Parts: sequence; structure tokens; C-alpha cells
Amino acid sequence: MKKVIKNKKILLGITGSIAAYKSVEILRLLQKKGAEVRVAMTPSAAKFIAPLTFETLTGHSVFIENVPERECEIRHTTLSAWADLLLIAPATANTIAKIACGIADTSVTELALCCQKGIICPAMNVRMFENLITQENFRKLKSLGWEIVEPESGYLACGEEGKGRLADVEDIVDAVSYWFMPKTLKGKKVVVTAGATREYIDPVRFISNPSSGKMGFALAKAAKGFGADVVLITGKTHLKTPYGVKRINVETVEEMFNAVMKEVKDANIYISSAAVGDFKPAHCSSEKIKKTKDKLTLELVKTQDILKAVGKSKKEGQLVIGFAAETENEIENAKEKMKRKNLDGIVVNNVRKGIFGSDGTEVTFLFKGKERRISGLKEDVAFEIIKEISEKE
Ligand SMILES: Cc1cc2nc3c(=O)[nH]c(=O)nc-3n(C[C@H](O)[C@H](O)[C@H](O)COP(=O)(O)O)c2cc1C
Repeated sequence: MKKVIKNKKILLGITGSIAAYKSVEILRLLQKKGAEVRVAMTPSAAKFIAPLTFETLTGHSVFIENVPERECEIRHTTLSAWADLLLIAPATANTIAKIACGIADTSVTELALCCQKGIICPAMNVRMFENLITQENFRKLKSLGWEIVEPESGYLACGEEGKGRLADVEDIVDAVSYWFMPKTLKGKKVVVTAGATREYIDPVRFISNPSSGKMGFALAKAAKGFGADVVLITGKTHLKTPYGVKRINVETVEEMFNAVMKEVKDANIYISSAAVGDFKPAHCSSEKIKKTKDKLTLELVKTQDILKAVGKSKKEGQLVIGFAAETENEIENAKEKMKRKNLDGIVVNNVRKGIFGSDGTEVTFLFKGKERRISGLKEDVAFEIIKEISEKE
């Protein structure tokens, strides 16, 4: 989330892993979101990728050896005092072990000892990762307030298969956003729906709508950042699952209905941002419909009203938030929908303004008797909506 990372001072620590080249992408993504980044590399990391790359991209010298830049400057103390966050990506098994033991013999371990906590993104061979000593180090570091961004499973640089690949760079940037957000939803379960549903006419054709799912994904990410356990129930989309969010893929309204009713039972908050189809074909042909006739008439019947069902079965203390995509009389229609479906809040947008698929949006959030207009990137609008909800929780 740009809003969260903007102007933050981030120290990027790079260690001697083959994944060190991915640090360039992490640095660029953080800078794109408005962060100010300085880089520290272990001497081993400097053998994998030239410090000049980072010096050029940050406009600052890279901290490798603890040789004062200016007279009397002690770089590990000044840099650690400057930083809002120490992000070590990639982190070798060696550096992780040293941090867990309080050893400070490289630029990165010196910074870790000074910063006391931060985010560690391990990257290593599967056997190094699974080694009980490494696992014990993770446990210890987590208990001391360090965040570990779990590596991924797959084909490793050494040719072996297993867990140990550096986490996806976008997940690492999500974890950085989460770091700066208050954990006001900790212990709460949030269920979000996103995207468009599909209703099949025959095996290869369906009725749908242009919803991209971006708003729902942004809401799921924001809720995760505020500390919630998040379940995202989504129609087909190419969007990447936000870091730490549980995703359930569905296609039809019926599938979404079943998934929602199951997940919402023990949820604290339900947010319905999916563009759910109101009608479906009365019959779905089991074979592809042939182009033999000049006309084809489709009979449509109503689909299940998921939001209404959730509102109706709402338990004490549960919050149900709906979305209303309107083309006219937005506020009046939204207020009426809120009442009719027993909602606690509603996010209204005017679909004539071209919000489908775009990165930005303009909404009015009706919640607890207040009417608030919010506009900007969907990620930042989602942040404001979840922040407001979490303050009432
Ligand atoms: C080609 C090569 C790739 C390596 N990749 C990794 C790696 O991905 N993860 C890891 O923990 N160690 C890796 N190592 C071993 C570390 O570089 C070694 O433990 C080194 O001492 C780490 O130093 P540092 O933690 O101070 O950066 C690799 C070594 C070589 C030669």
C-alpha cells in the first residue's frame, strides 16, 4: 500500500545468497511506493551482485565494511537510528543464525543487533531451511518480534526441489506494508468477496460483468495489514493473492454463496465487494449451442442474494458491509439497500465513472451514521475503509 510505505526509511540488508539479484526488484518496488531506501550488504553478498547497482539506484553508498564515511561516523549506529525498518532480503542461514545468537560481525548483523527487530526473508537450500537449528532460530527470532516471510517451495538454484526459494518480491513488499499498520483487527476473522461471478449458458459461454476484483483484493490486503485473519472468496481473476490471505476460488453465484455461508459463520466482519450476477440462465446446455438458428432467446432466473442471506443470518457483534454499484441516485439507493439487507455499512460508487478494472476509484462510505467520500488508488481507499471499520471493532 503506497499510503503506508510512503516516506518510510527502510534499510535493506542483503546477504550472500544466489537470490541477491532479486533485491534490486525489491528496492525498486519500495521506491515506487515512496520509501527512502539505504542498502547494507555483507561482504559475501557483494560477491553476488555489485554494490554499484544499489549505489546508483539509491544515490547513497552501500554499507559493507564498517569504515567511517565521514570522520567519526559509526555507520551501524547512525544507519540503524535513521531507519524505520530493517528488511533483510535475502537472508542466508548463516546471517539468520548469527542474528539469533547476537553476533555482529558483518554490516547486516551489526544493524540487526542495533535495530533489535525487523523483517527477515530467508532464501536457502531446502536442507539448510529444514535443519532443526535453522527452524529453532526462526522460532527464537519470531518470539523476539522479528517477522519471517516464509520462503516458497519449488525448483532451487542448487538444482534440488523443496522449500527455500526467496518469497515472491510482491509478498515481501506486502509484508513491509503490514509492518507499519496498527494491528487493530488482531484475532478477528474478515471474509471478503471479490471479482465477477460467471453463469454458464453452455460449456463455453457465460454471462458475467467487467469487475476486475481489484477493490476486493485491496480490502483483503488492508484487513490482513490491520492484523485480521482474512479469507478472500473470489471469482476468476488474474490478480495475485495478497500476502498471508487465504483465497477460495469460485465461479458461479451458487459456488460463492456456499463458500460465503460456510466461512461467514465464525467471521467478525463480512465485506461483499464482489460483483455478483443477479440473473442466470434458466437452463445451461450440456452441449455447446450450435449457430443453426438466427435468433436465440435466453430465459433468465434470479440468482441467490448472498448479501441478503448474510444480513439475515447476522449474529450479535458481526459487521456486514455491502457495496453498491449505482448509475443514478447513488446515496438514496444505497441507504435503501442497507436497510433492506440489514447491513452495517455500504460503499457506494457510481459505475458510470469508469471504475471497473481501473486502479483508482471514488466512493462514498456510509457507516455508523456517517457519510465519507474517499478517492484515490483502490489500495489506499481500501486502507481508509478498513481503518474506519477497525476503529469501531
Ligand atoms: C553460489 C552460492 C550460493 C549460495 N546461496 C546461498 C543461499 O541461497 N542461502 C544461504 O543461506 N547460503 C547460501 N550460500 C552460502 C553463503 O554464501 C555462506 O554461508 C556465506 O558465508 C554467507 O555469508 P553472509 O551470511 O555473511 O552473507 C551460497 C554460497 C554460494 C557459493
